[in-house]
Amino acid sequence: MADQKQNPEIDTSAAEAFEKFLVPTIFGPWSEMMVEHAGTREGHQLLDIGCGSGAAARYAAKVVGGSGLVSAIDLNAGMIKHARTLDTGKLIKWHQGDLTDMPYEDEQFDIIAGNQVLQFLPDKEKGLNEIKRVMAKSGRLALTVYCSPQLNPAHAAVGNALKARGIDSTGVAHPFSYGDPMALGDLLQEIGFRDVSVVQKQMNSYFQSAENFVECLAAGGPSSRHALEQLDAEGLKDLKNEVTKRLADFVDTEKGLRVITTSHMALASV
Ligand SMILES: C[S@@+](CC[C@H](N)C(=O)[O-])C[C@H]1O[C@@H](n2cnc3c(N)ncnc32)[C@H](O)[C@@H]1O
Repeated sequence: MADQKQNPEIDTSAAEAFEKFLVPTIFGPWSEMMVEHAGTREGHQLLDIGCGSGAAARYAAKVVGGSGLVSAIDLNAGMIKHARTLDTGKLIKWHQGDLTDMPYEDEQFDIIAGNQVLQFLPDKEKGLNEIKRVMAKSGRLALTVYCSPQLNPAHAAVGNALKARGIDSTGVAHPFSYGDPMALGDLLQEIGFRDVSVVQKQMNSYFQSAENFVECLAAGGPSSRHALEQLDAEGLKDLKNEVTKRLADFVDTEKGLRVITTSHMALASV
């Protein structure tokens, strides 16, 4: 797959919108929680898998300091290209590639962390075996994976409104498709990880309004923008109205729309 150096024409607009609208509100706070949950310390070598625009990697770089090292990998060339521009101190080693086949040495990393990525892997066993290969014997893996749509009501409202319009909302549902904590824990153990724990965490994020939430997803939602793109201007307006009605109970007159996200956070060693 082409990387930034080979192809300077990579479109970063979706990555920029993701970083601008969804990282400060949702992905950044989850990434920081994950890096903390993993027990990241000064001097650690950390790998951010499925790093997107690099929220976890940037936070981890502050935690591991000059004696540590952060690497980050993502399949999406636009995300990696934008992530490089945000890493003004050149603190992080970025790589565009597939986490199921990584360019790293065996047992290289003390911490491997992936915020909302495992559920997207068609072959989760392959991905987890590759993670295990590059993880130090004393290392730890931290993964966050969204719970079911019922526990992520704002995203579910958008998915249901798309479905009601006959739009294929598979992409919108995909992030919430691996919400069974038993399946997650069992899979980690089957691959040979030890000390496996899976805990459920919840977070409130605020958007100006339901309309604004839909606009942010349409601009930068890695899974939802392609579904929302299928609507014309009138259709999008109509969908925003429906989502506004569906989410009326979550509106705070001062803070705006409360978007609840609920994830499982898995921790494991080898
Ligand atoms: C929902 S985004 C989360 C991004 C980032 N972890 C964050 O929290 O901001 C999921 C990311 O996983 C990446 N991804 C999906 N499958 C991948 C794979 N096989 N290898 C590397 N990255 C992958 C996508 O390109 C996308 O950037």
